[in-house]
Amino acid sequence: MTAKFNMRLIQERAGDEPIAAALVLGSGFAALGEMLKDPVTINYDELQGFPGGGVTGHGKNLLIGELEGKRVALLTGRAHYYEHGNAAAMKMAIQTLAGLGIDTLMLTNAAGSIVNDIRPGDLMLINDHINFSGLNPLIGLAGDKRFVNMVDAYDPALRQKALDIAERDFLDLKQGVYTWYSGPSFETPAEIKMIQGFGAQAVGMSTVPECILGRYYDMRVWGCSFITNMGAGMSDEHLSHDHTQTMVASGGERMQSLLTKMIAEL
Ligand code: HPA
Repeated sequence: MTAKFNMRLIQERAGDEPIAAALVLGSGFAALGEMLKDPVTINYDELQGFPGGGVTGHGKNLLIGELEGKRVALLTGRAHYYEHGNAAAMKMAIQTLAGLGIDTLMLTNAAGSIVNDIRPGDLMLINDHINFSGLNPLIGLAGDKRFVNMVDAYDPALRQKALDIAERDFLDLKQGVYTWYSGPSFETPAEIKMIQGFGAQAVGMSTVPECILGRYYDMRVWGCSFITNMGAGMSDEHLSHDHTQTMVASGGERMQSLLTKMIAEL
């Protein structure tokens, strides 16, 4: 299984002009793919080590095409640790993207808010993360490169770009720290109270391993959460995957709009 095989296949299908950014689209955000000009679609099954599509609402295609005059690669689905117990499930995908020379990795997800001033329907720029799982996608790798520096893991210049766009276009963009909880069960109210004490603002089941992998491969990482619910015990809402998907369907356009504006300014 090699990233080289994937890189060759992708370049044969989509050409080898530079790609400005790779985007990992969380549940429900795959509609961004419909905005691509002249997209080339490659199913994950054709690539080595790309994730299988096991979660409702997640796709399994790599799309390469033009958006806002820039060539971008969209991953319409991701692997989550909870699907198989492998924290490094996105390693080959991210290694392949980095191998193609893509230096910017943009991560999106659906998340629960654990603070009262970030509400369902809000977009939250990820400033930093807390790995509450004890897992790491780099475990088992050899060499000193595995000791990745995670200060400013979410690129300060890209974060500022998002804040500038939000201010310019009157987009309500919250900011906060995202906590990775393994899932697939939601958290208990006691766990939410504990995470609140950590100083985090949101919780979700993805993104952190991809951020670590992106940094390992020297990519600039940017992340944004769409808040679908208040954390367990904070409201009367019954938490379910159905609820997450319904919320994302109603807010997907705002995420899409921010992503498009970010890409325009890369
Ligand atoms: N917890 C974990 N993951 C989530 C949540 C949540 O409350 N909402 C959406 N994804």
